[in-house]
Amino acid sequence: MTHAPSADDRFAPSAAFAAKAHVTADQYQAMYNASIQDPERFWAEHGKRIDWIKPFTKVKSTSFAPGKIDIKWFEDGTLNVSANCIDRHLETRGDQTAIIWEPDDPKDAAQHITYKELHRRTCRMANILETMGVRRGDRVVIYLPMIPEAAYAMLACARIGAVHSIVFAGFSPDALGTRINGCDAKVVITADHAPRGGRSTPLKSNTDAALLHCKDSVKCLVVRRTGGQTSWADGRDFDYNEMAMEADDYCAPAEMGAEDPLFILYTSGSTGQPKGVVHSSGGYLAYAAMTHQYTFDYHDGDIFWCTADVGWVTGHSYIVYGPLANGATTIMFEGVPTYPDAGRFWEVCQKHKVNQFYTAPTALRALMAHGNGPVEKYDLSSIKVLGTVGEPINPEAWNWYNDVIGKGKCPIVDTWWQTETGGHLLTPLPGAIATKPGSATLPFFGVLPVILDPQTGVEITTTAAEGVLCIKDSWPGQMRTVYGDHERFEKTYFSDYKNYYFTGDGCRRDEDGYYWITGRVDDVINVSGHRMGTAEVESALVAHADVAEAAVVGYPHAIKGQGIYAYVTLMNGVEPSEDLRKDLVKWVRSEIGPIASPDLIQWAPGLPKTRSGKIMRRILRKIAENDHTTLGDISTLADPSVVDHLIEHRMNKV
Ligand code: WTA
Repeated sequence: MTHAPSADDRFAPSAAFAAKAHVTADQYQAMYNASIQDPERFWAEHGKRIDWIKPFTKVKSTSFAPGKIDIKWFEDGTLNVSANCIDRHLETRGDQTAIIWEPDDPKDAAQHITYKELHRRTCRMANILETMGVRRGDRVVIYLPMIPEAAYAMLACARIGAVHSIVFAGFSPDALGTRINGCDAKVVITADHAPRGGRSTPLKSNTDAALLHCKDSVKCLVVRRTGGQTSWADGRDFDYNEMAMEADDYCAPAEMGAEDPLFILYTSGSTGQPKGVVHSSGGYLAYAAMTHQYTFDYHDGDIFWCTADVGWVTGHSYIVYGPLANGATTIMFEGVPTYPDAGRFWEVCQKHKVNQFYTAPTALRALMAHGNGPVEKYDLSSIKVLGTVGEPINPEAWNWYNDVIGKGKCPIVDTWWQTETGGHLLTPLPGAIATKPGSATLPFFGVLPVILDPQTGVEITTTAAEGVLCIKDSWPGQMRTVYGDHERFEKTYFSDYKNYYFTGDGCRRDEDGYYWITGRVDDVINVSGHRMGTAEVESALVAHADVAEAAVVGYPHAIKGQGIYAYVTLMNGVEPSEDLRKDLVKWVRSEIGPIASPDLIQWAPGLPKTRSGKIMRRILRKIAENDHTTLGDISTLADPSVVDHLIEHRMNKV
């Protein structure tokens, strides 16, 4: 049994890396200070990184005041987002690859789409949408696999001033229907089938089912991906591939206001139905582009790979908008990390000579369980920067990423942000900031994180602090409202702690001022009056040599208030036993302390995860509470069958 690597380790960028980086340590301090002391001036300068049709004269008009929540950046400027992502690169890099598309099946050829081709395809898609009656301000739902047409569709909407709302292709017909109705979409764009991990999802028939619950006027544009069979409703369904052959190669970009919405993206919170997060055109794009360049230290000619799906905000900001605004080459991957085997990510890195690789800790943990064999087959020497997103990374996974993938020479950027924030808020800059495994380190330019006492709402001003994470002032990438419900926007994010944006995350700041996300506040367990971060217990469990993955939730405990319930996935080949159970409890006690001892450990061959890899704690909490009759919608899980297994073997049978 190995001891857990220490989270106190520090990893400074090498002198060689820093010498070539956009931002060094001194520059970071100077730029950060400037951004906080005079945000107007800082953002007036950095707002110019995108092309404006009419330049802005006003920079920042933002208020977090109760009853007056109002966020506007660059408000009198006009621009077109698709022209920023495509047209402005045509002269200098028209023949450069904009998108590398890597299909699900490695036996199929990858596609290299140049900026010129991206322009042609986007214009055609824009013209098709106009033919179908889509006008400026109309909403278009995109329900597509990870194919280039998803990017064309996003950019085509932006080109004509329509607002897109992407629904992840793993969502059920019900969820799709709710979202189509929620934003009153005029058109839904889908494909016949979506291949993924060797299996296929019938997207068109899902869409047919969803549309049964939508207005008759909603039209459907169908992209051919597999050529597989679909039913067809004349008058409602439109054939993309046929129309694209006829469509004109040029469509003039619409002149849009900086504050015109670019997209809506539904995301779940701790209460109620998913909310439609609304992002702007100008501020969002400037922020996505700037964070993409600095966080990943992106340089012209680099090949950038973000493994997310465009159905999530990470895909919006770091597959499409940020990279393309910067004239990058961005990879779109249709598949999954373990198909056809656990070496797929690394095979793709070798094949396309990836320079920056950005993924989720959960994927790393899944791959770690397969050992180093699948990695060692490939040449990963092109990689310069590694990134993580979506959840706290445990030091075990961090060290594996660092040693086995990065060979100890690639800075790891642990990026903390949210659908609501549009881009990174806490992240190391790889040439500037020494990292500590598991910490998202320091704020990005212009970001003022504060830690509040959760009970009193008072800001804790000592360097070392622990509490809830709030942001004190606006940044250009911030969401502007909840679609159709500004009141809910205020209630969700600005009412628990007045005059602050409340992130919903717990956070610790260490003596060096580094930020450590402890998990959603709603996931915090209160054990015998002690606050326990589920992420912390999980990290300890995963540090055990026999554990591949762990998820921890609270459950009602007669004596302690809440007890700790742990779901544990063992490494391949390890057999569960009572001895191992005891050993794990002992291990956690020794890693964190007796208050962190799991009360119940359930062996879990698989954990319920969304297709994006997020563990569905809501479901685990219900099972732990022995309340599994009301699990809610489990159709969005990557593998809903794991739930039955967990229920059957639950530990908390009353
Ligand atoms: C969590 C994903 C720790 C956090 C971009 C946040 C993280 C939520 C990190 C947002 C990170 C995201 N370390 N936790 N680096 N990144 N989170 O909206 O709880 O899908 O509030 O956006 O994920 O998830 P969302």
